[in-house]
Amino acid sequence: MGKGIINKYSEYLPINNKVSNLSIGEGDTPLVKSRSIGRTLGIDSLYFKLEGCNPTGSFKDRGMVIAVAKSLETGNPRLLCASTGNTSASAAAYGAAAGLETIVLVPKGNIAIGKMSQAIAYGARIISINGNFDDSLNIAIKLGEDQSRFTLVNSVNPYRIEGQKTASFELIDELGDAPNYLYIPVGNAGNITAYWKGFKEYFNLGKSTFTPKMMGIQAAGAAPIVQGSPVSNPETIASAIRIGNPASWSTALSARDESGGEIDAVSDDEILNAYKRMAREEGIFCEPASAASVAGLIKHVHKGFNISSKTVVCIITGNGLKDPPIANSLAESPPEEAAPDLIKVMKLIDKRG
Ligand code: F0G
Repeated sequence: MGKGIINKYSEYLPINNKVSNLSIGEGDTPLVKSRSIGRTLGIDSLYFKLEGCNPTGSFKDRGMVIAVAKSLETGNPRLLCASTGNTSASAAAYGAAAGLETIVLVPKGNIAIGKMSQAIAYGARIISINGNFDDSLNIAIKLGEDQSRFTLVNSVNPYRIEGQKTASFELIDELGDAPNYLYIPVGNAGNITAYWKGFKEYFNLGKSTFTPKMMGIQAAGAAPIVQGSPVSNPETIASAIRIGNPASWSTALSARDESGGEIDAVSDDEILNAYKRMAREEGIFCEPASAASVAGLIKHVHKGFNISSKTVVCIITGNGLKDPPIANSLAESPPEEAAPDLIKVMKLIDKRG
């Protein structure tokens, strides 16, 4: 546990001088078998990969450790990214660990409060852009062209993809073979690209006997890939994937087509339902974007997909603590109150049964 992906998978990563001390414990995330949702869907082998257990609470850390390690190798200066929140939290953390300045561009008013708190705590310079993520990314990409000034650490940086592919290795190492279906939320589409790269590499090395079908899930209000054209004003409760023009669009299509998978969309209601079920039936508190993968699976089974005998993995990309207001909105009523008196508390408990 906690070796970090550079140590664990160095032979498959493009690292020259081992910058392994950059690890803050990314990778080796739990693969948890479903206790409830799988049963209700009739799937015996449904697993959740808890990427929210990474050091900054999302999968971004796998890619960030490599992108920042490469930046150190080449002597590149400060880190720069645009982000719906998780990339900025991760960049800020690894920037701090590496002793590099980190500048993050975030869409004003549209990043979850926990993610903003992380960027502040890790000491990043935060620039709020009066626009959406796509506007922020366009600016970051332009700035990043000057490599003598910035290392762009968005997933257009190929080292991000290299690091993130290690999650596929972990799945195959743990399951003994690839899963049949991989459900994964899609925003900027770097992660589906990375998983597919990892699955293909491990397959070519003979570590698995087949590759999974890649099932990418977007939010209905931010589903450019499903619609086939960019969305100029993406809207969804899942702020992490509120993206209208994904940078890795074409490689997401390759992942879908080469794997025989699908990219589909789910409504905010479906996302919230899956989010609540994950917390209340599985004990897994994830962020809304992460619940999109589960919502996609539920939708497909209800539509008549017969995958009951298959091994299915949903990628749970981020921790629920990132976005507390969404969790608070599930409260049916305010907390009950009682005087600091044993009898009164007992009576109150008995009243509700
Ligand atoms: N889930 C979470 C929790 C995310 O933060 C993101 C992306 C995704 C899924 C989608 O992954 O972009 O590789 O398709 N967050 C980015 C960010 C955009 O800035 O933190 P993707």
